[in-house]
Amino acid sequence: MSNFPEAFLWGASTSAYQVEGAWAEDGKGPSVQDIKEIPQGTTDFKVASDHYHRYEEDVKLFKELGLKAYRFSISWSRVMPDGKVNPAGLAFYQKLIDLLLENEIQPIVTVFHFDLPVAIAEEGGWENRATIQAFADYCQVLFENFGQQVPLWQTINEQNVMALAGSVIGTSQKSMKEKFQENHHMLVAQALVTQQFHAGNFSGRIGPAPNIASVYPASEKPADQLAALYMSALRNWLFLDAAVFGTYNHNAWHLLETIGAAPTVTEADRKILAAGTCDYIALNYYNTMTVSSYFQKETKLDQQSGFGIPGFFQAVENTHLPMTEFGWPIDPEGFRFTLNEIYSRYRLPLLITENGIGAKDVLTTDGKIHDDYRIDYLQQHIEQMALAIDDGVDVIGYCPWSAIDLVSTHEGIAKRYGFIYVNSTDEQLLDLARYKKDSFYWYQNVIDKNGLGE
Ligand code: BG6
Repeated sequence: MSNFPEAFLWGASTSAYQVEGAWAEDGKGPSVQDIKEIPQGTTDFKVASDHYHRYEEDVKLFKELGLKAYRFSISWSRVMPDGKVNPAGLAFYQKLIDLLLENEIQPIVTVFHFDLPVAIAEEGGWENRATIQAFADYCQVLFENFGQQVPLWQTINEQNVMALAGSVIGTSQKSMKEKFQENHHMLVAQALVTQQFHAGNFSGRIGPAPNIASVYPASEKPADQLAALYMSALRNWLFLDAAVFGTYNHNAWHLLETIGAAPTVTEADRKILAAGTCDYIALNYYNTMTVSSYFQKETKLDQQSGFGIPGFFQAVENTHLPMTEFGWPIDPEGFRFTLNEIYSRYRLPLLITENGIGAKDVLTTDGKIHDDYRIDYLQQHIEQMALAIDDGVDVIGYCPWSAIDLVSTHEGIAKRYGFIYVNSTDEQLLDLARYKKDSFYWYQNVIDKNGLGE
């Protein structure tokens, strides 16, 4: 088993709207996540884990856990609710970043994680070209304020999931044509802010944070190979080719043209894309996908595995893989495969910004959480990541989802991911007290040993 590099960033992740709460405090405006229809039986995001008020206690726990890095997102509608800077919003992130640094935890910042300000959504959101400049203005404020302190930035979290399954996670309900125009504007916005960041001469690095999953063909049939090629082009390479090479992937473009969803791209856009390429790749990995050629069966849309495009591919179940209790496949070897696939295409450092298992943890009467399934899941993924490093892949850090329990995108707080339990339920807001899970002590030991040991 490989030793991880000395400076390997053992971290953990959260996102603003899922963890902070304080949804309308200190000048924060609403985001699309605050006004979306909440699935029945799940809590909304108004209080979440109340990290906004308890960040000091949380950072103390992160320190005890031994985190070398903490990946979080900044809420656009807290910092710029209506186009103007909200000083109180900025001050919250300044305090958080200062505290992390005092505790020798590197802040890793995602600028945008699913929570578009309502003020911008009302003007057409990402479909409106003006949002590109609004995003650039917002990022400029962040770079000017935190550019000297934050070494690793991510532009947009899971842009591919927003484009392909926006209705599941509550970011967009539009047609493919509209969604891929939005998506194009996001790509241009990402390239523009990447240029801005580079122009600022900060010592840090900036990159995208898509959800990447290698795609397996369902069988050895040639038609299934082609289906996998197209699924991967649309789900993965469209986003990474744009970020790394500044161009559209030709298979993805062909697919979009064929289904009438190709966006309008101007000459000026092409120039911006080409001039704003990334320094490294952040990626979220939960599982692989398996597809066959399209056979016209109804597919239930899911952000990880439920896609189908008539004429091209159809997601199918992989019977070789176990599932989480929330129906997501578990594929640690696929993690090694995915890391190798990305690295052989792009040859840039990779940072894992999410990986984890959602489960219904139980708090025992003596304040314990025995989450051995989480330990198993993470251990197997770390083993495969170590093998990928042995294969020659440059992985610089691992930030599992999530540092602390938070509210899932659409399955409530009952679907927990954290190392730290937050006492609340979907039905009732409880005292939100923090408890260390068994996985907390296990991960603490992994970090301490810089890996799993012999
Ligand atoms: C990723 C997102 O899709 O997966 C997170 O970046 C999300 O925001 C995580 O919480 C797990 O998904 P879910 O739907 O179980 O919350």
